Amino acid sequence: PLNCCINPSILSADFVNLEAELARISNADAVHVDVMDNHFVPNLTIGLPVVERLQKVSPVPLDAHLMIANVDRWAPLYADAGLSSVTFHVEASDAPIKLARELRARGAKAGMALRPATPVEPYLDMLPELDMLLIMTVEPGFGGQAFLDVMLPKIRRARAAVEGSGVNVAIQVDGGITEETITRAAEAGANVFVAGSAVYGKPSPADAIESLRTNGQL
Ligand code: DX5
Ligand code: ZN
Repeated sequence: PLNCCINPSILSADFVNLEAELARISNADAVHVDVMDNHFVPNLTIGLPVVERLQKVSPVPLDAHLMIANVDRWAPLYADAGLSSVTFHVEASDAPIKLARELRARGAKAGMALRPATPVEPYLDMLPELDMLLIMTVEPGFGGQAFLDVMLPKIRRARAAVEGSGVNVAIQVDGGITEETITRAAEAGANVFVAGSAVYGKPSPADAIESLRTNGQL
């Protein structure tokens, strides 16, 4: 599905009122759940018990972004929780092909994320194993950072590879997506857009989602 999705990130939501915060984005395609362990990234958020509860109450599908070490051990448990998609960082995995297969076998879409300095080329042969490729457009760890325009060529190369191999892999971008930068990311070939501060930082997150859709021509 090309140019489908706005996935707000609950990293910018009120962590004390997550159920109410989910209700404010019921027009989103999915909710992006940032899991950080203070090892893979220098920040700490929530883990499996909280995500399992979110999965039970969320009006929209859950899209987990695991920024954690030992991801080969943890990611399958998020798939078992019933999440729609589970994305692991390739830098944290010892066996990414095995892990992607395990996620799919457990009923989740398999996503693989690349930090800004991780090139996409070594992983192009893996595309058939994936449902989504996440190209980070900031260093993972914190919301509210500026979009890295230097990632645009990487998005373009990933899009060309996806088209060239005929696989159905979504290209997700995460970090610094705003009403302004979404236009460039979409033009480069991204079709799933994560936005934290550009959604939850606005008085009406639901309206912010619709503005992003308009500007991204979704
Ligand atoms: C950053 C997280 C992002 C973050 C994006 O490490 O992976 O999902 O919430 O926040 P914004 O949209 O504010 O850059
Ligand atoms: Zn994220």
